[in-house]
Amino acid sequence: MIEGKKDFLDTEGFSEKALLDIIALGLKMKKNKQKYSKSLKGKKLGMIFEKSSTRTRVSFEAGMYELGGISIFLSSRDIQLGRGETIEDTARVLSRYVDCIMIRTYSQEVVETLAKHSTVPVINGLTDLLHPCQAMADFMTIVEYKYKVKDLNFCFIGDGNNMAHSLGLLASKLGTNFSIATPENYTMNEEITKKIKENAKISGSKIKITVDPKEAIKDADIVYTDVWTSMGQEEETEKRLKDFKGFQINDELVKLAKKDYIFMHCLPAHRGEEVSSSVIDGTNSVVFDEAENRLHIQKAILYLLLK
Ligand code: CP
Ligand code: NVA
Repeated sequence: MIEGKKDFLDTEGFSEKALLDIIALGLKMKKNKQKYSKSLKGKKLGMIFEKSSTRTRVSFEAGMYELGGISIFLSSRDIQLGRGETIEDTARVLSRYVDCIMIRTYSQEVVETLAKHSTVPVINGLTDLLHPCQAMADFMTIVEYKYKVKDLNFCFIGDGNNMAHSLGLLASKLGTNFSIATPENYTMNEEITKKIKENAKISGSKIKITVDPKEAIKDADIVYTDVWTSMGQEEETEKRLKDFKGFQINDELVKLAKKDYIFMHCLPAHRGEEVSSSVIDGTNSVVFDEAENRLHIQKAILYLLLK
């Protein structure tokens, strides 16, 4: 349980303190792997994947192993969910076998239904709407590089997608300033935008929403982007390549960020599209530390939900 909640479906349900505590535990686990090596001994994690994954699958699997437990990979291509068994029944059945379920799927409602009908904790491993584990790993990385989360300018340039949503929600919760530039027809979901603004009123984050990447990146401490075409949108690839012209993070654009900015990307990346090779492979890029931190933050989340 985290703050009395069984599941980790988004960051919204948690207080600023709870979220910072998870990050602190992730950092502690990274430093002292051995200390936690038996803390989830005998526990089993079921992992449902309805979309592809490299980081999420391997980091959860490695994480459970490092905590003394095991994980079971459940591709929707193989399990009965992919042949029409309901999510409710899947939840009831898996709850009899495993101690926790991680799911990567399309709709956020599916994750919520799964959680509602499971007696064990459920973790959101990405939906079309949110990617909370990635955002948590990202803020853990920010703490490692910037030693704080407040009074920092976080800039997201690209699609108003699951990453933009989760990062905006978490930044506004933690008091990080959040500026986002998307092309006009790719703005964030309205309800999420409203929540970000509400969070900001409480935390003091400054929020800027624009269609001008230059305006968004000005004085940024953190420059973030994600693919222009997310999983499930493949048929829009050609159109998106045209619509996102001018939104590439490259040497010219990052000149407007602070000198010591860090470049972040949840990965997988498409060099030459949303980011130039010079930026993602340059000295300000922290993308592989960020990827590593998925392992540590998810171990912290698993530990807190299951202990
Ligand atoms: N960033 C991320 O979630 O990567 P995968 O799609 O490889 O899991
Ligand atoms: N926005 C991307 C994130 C991948 C980790 C997608 O949904 O495909």
